[in-house]
Formats: sequence, structure tokens, C-alpha cells
Amino acid sequence: MSGADPTAGPAPAIFNAADTSARAAAPALHEVLVLAAAAWRGVQGGQSLDRALETVLQPNSVTGPARAPADQARLGGAVRDLAAATVRRAATVDFLLTRLLHRPPDAAVSGLLAVGIAQLLARSYADFTLVDQAVRAARAQPHTAAASGLVNAVLRAFLRQREALEAEAGADPQRRFNVPAWWLRRLQAEYGTRTTALLAAQLEEPPLVLRVNARRASVPQMLERLQQQGMDAVQVGPSAIWLQRAVAVERIPGFLEGWVSVQDAGAQLAGPLLEVAAGMRVLDVCAAPGGKTAQLLEMADCSVDAVEFDPQRARRIGANLERLGLAGPNARVVVADALDPPAYWNGVPYDRILLDAPCTASGVVRRHPDVVLLRRESDVAKLATQQAKMLQTLWPLLAPAGRLLYVVCSVFAEEGRRQVSAFLQRQPGARSVLIHGDDPAGLQLLPCATAPTTGLAAQPAGAAIPVLHDGFFYALLEKT
Ligand SMILES: C[S@@+](CC[C@H](N)C(=O)[O-])C[C@H]1O[C@@H](n2cnc3c(N)ncnc32)[C@H](O)[C@@H]1O
Repeated sequence: MSGADPTAGPAPAIFNAADTSARAAAPALHEVLVLAAAAWRGVQGGQSLDRALETVLQPNSVTGPARAPADQARLGGAVRDLAAATVRRAATVDFLLTRLLHRPPDAAVSGLLAVGIAQLLARSYADFTLVDQAVRAARAQPHTAAASGLVNAVLRAFLRQREALEAEAGADPQRRFNVPAWWLRRLQAEYGTRTTALLAAQLEEPPLVLRVNARRASVPQMLERLQQQGMDAVQVGPSAIWLQRAVAVERIPGFLEGWVSVQDAGAQLAGPLLEVAAGMRVLDVCAAPGGKTAQLLEMADCSVDAVEFDPQRARRIGANLERLGLAGPNARVVVADALDPPAYWNGVPYDRILLDAPCTASGVVRRHPDVVLLRRESDVAKLATQQAKMLQTLWPLLAPAGRLLYVVCSVFAEEGRRQVSAFLQRQPGARSVLIHGDDPAGLQLLPCATAPTTGLAAQPAGAAIPVLHDGFFYALLEKT
């Protein structure tokens, strides 16, 4: 054993990653650190976290030869956890590294240090284990081996001054909440004193929430099945169950049989708000991976045209519908641009339209922490223009008395209530249907925290709005 701390014992297995299978081999922490550091560097270079992870997890000289699928999935889950934890603390990690280093080291070394510091901040492992494994990770790679002493020294220096450094880092809200100045300014202007709670929720690890497929099971049946497997779960929406300890989907009882899908409870509002009924013609645009398409088909014998312009993502709609037992002639997946109706519309108006518009994703930061690093303020206006264009393009496809549900997973008013207010002003014959509360423009859900987990009340019977959700904006527009 070559680590800095001889008491650390053999390389620890990762148990906190969303494990895929009890049979999968647990990857060693030092291997995971190397790959997470590479993914982190990809994100720093402007890649999305998903893309960076895809790249680093390809079998190659660093990851080693191809592994059994279960092992590969478990490794992927562990690397994702560590890389996401680093992205979630990026501003603090950057600050701490400038405090702890006299000059920036090689990118591979600073990547390893960033992931190491983020894990020490998260307190996911015993300090000595983490330091030992980070040193081992440095030694394992030819281009970082010479810096293993530096890795050891910097992580130990952090531990010696931890309290003071964490307090200094946390004194700045941009660093504490890991958001750029423009993002913070916008939220403060729109939400005032509610901003802190919103930002705190956004720093959490995302809760794993399921939607029960009403065609296969009920919420009580699913809760019972989870309980039988010893999995703690609580109902957090009319069809939503929060699985309090994340596991890989294949380990969720009933998942492969189509009893459930993974979907945030806030996203699950789409189906009930659209009130689809048997025989209705429904257009679902920006549909992949098909979470909402499936929900509509679970709720009623309607026919759905699911339009998605990314062919690879469109294939996932079909796969999800197959698993849920919903594939058939009434579910048509079309690869097309939503802005080009002749490519998917036969001229017969739709009774319902679901527009899940492209947006900043500012409401789902805890699921996609890279969003705050990759977005620029100018993106908000660009996306708002695209959303307005989509609303304008789709409106003529709606039948008289038909309803269009506009959804964005954003908390910025420019994409939500201001977008819809502007549409209502310029579009004769459009009226807004009040959803919940008293804002005629629509319903803004702000991400709410799971912590303290014990304090979360289960879904009150009959309540439509989930008790645990990410950030979404919904507007229900009717053609008069
Ligand atoms: C937020 S995701 C939609 C999630 C989906 N509605 C669900 O519930 O599973 C947005 C999707 O819109 C697609 N998209 C973006 N612009 C589009 C366009 N102009 N036409 C069709 N699809 C588009 C993206 O490729 C992406 O798959």
C-alpha cells in the first residue's frame, strides 16, 4: 500500500454512489478520483457534465479495458457522484485552491485536488481515507505521479485550517451558493428573501423521485413493494414517491416491469394539468426522453404525437414507452423541429398541446449542477426569444377550446410569467386558466429542500401540488 496514511487499509469501495447492482464490483476510490478529476476538467473546459462523463468513461488507457456492464454502471455512478459534488462546490473549491497553492499546478493535478477538496467539504469519507486515496490516485498516473507529495500537502493543509477557510469561503453568497453574480442578482430581484432557501435547495443532492404508472399499479401498492424490499419511501405528490436512498433504476422493484418511471414530482404536474381524456389528439413537443409523453398515455386513451428534433434522444422515447407498456399506434414519435409544423402536423387541430420548451434549466440545478457554470446571462434572453417563437408557432395548431400547457424548468421570470404575460397581450383569443394560487400568468414552483428529511410531511390526501419538487413554471392557455 503506497498511500500517505498507512492506517488507511485497502482501497475502500464506494458505497454511497447510486449502486447499480449488489453483484457489481465496487470501484476503488482512487480510480474514481482519477476519472472524476478528468470529468471535472472537461466541465471546466466548457463541456456539459454528461458529455464529460461520457468521454472519461470510455474504455481506454485510464479507465482500463471494458468492464462487465454492471461494473461499468457502478463505476459510472460513482464517478458521476464525485464529479457532480465538485461542480456543486466549484466556486468554493476554486477559492480554496487559490488560498492553498502558491501557483497553479498542472491541470491534471489541480483537477485531482479540486475533487479531493470537494469530497473533504462534503465529508463523505473519513479524512485520512480521502487523503490517502487522492495520493494514490496521483501516483497511479504518470503525469501526476511527481505531484503526489503536493496533493498530500495541500489536502492536509486544508484539513489543518478547515474551519477558518470554510468560514471565509462561505462569507460570500456567490461562493456559498455556487452561482455567478448575475444569477444571484436576478433571483434576489425576483424572489427577495426567498432566494436563500431556493439556493440552499439547489445545492442538495437531487432526490430520487418516481412516478407510478397508473396502468400498472397504485401508489399504495408501490409503497408496499418498496417497504417489502426495505427501501424507505414517502409519497410526495399525487403519483410521486420519493425513494430516500438513491439506487440505480434496475434495483427499483417493478422498474423493469414498467410500474414506475424516474421523474421529479414537479414535472409530474404536466399530465394532471392538461386533463387529457380518451380520444383526444395531443401534441407533445420537445418530448425526449418521453417522461411527460408516457404520463399522458398512462392517464388516458388519447393519441399523442411526440415531436423531438434530436434523433438519438427520440429513440429513448420509444424505449421508455415500450418498458411502460404504452407503445402502440396511438403513440407516434416524430423526429422533427417543433418550429416546422408541416414536418409533423397533418392539419387536424390538436385538443391539447404540451410545450416543454428549451430553457436555462435554472430550476433543476441540483440535478444538473453544471448549468450554473455553463450558462451565460445572455442565454436567458436568447432562450426567451426561442420560447416566444415556439408559442407563436404552435398556437395555430390548437383546436378552439383546446388547451396548451407551457412548461419550463426555470425559475427566471423572463422564461416564465413574463413570457406568458407578453404572449397573452399579443395573442387575441388566448386566455390563461388559473392553475393554483392567484397569479393569472401561471404557477411558479421553486425548488424545495429535502432537508431535514424527517421534517417532510407526506403528501396530504387530495392535494394537487407536490410537497417536494424542483423548480418549474407552468401556464395553461386556452383558445377562446
Ligand atoms: C427538457 S427536455 C424535454 C423533456 C421531456 N418533455 C420529458 O418530459 O421527458 C427538452 C427537449 O427538447 C428538445 N428540443 C429542443 N428544441 C427543440 C425543437 N426546436 N424541436 C424539437 N425538439 C426540441 C431537446 O432535444 C430536448 O430533448
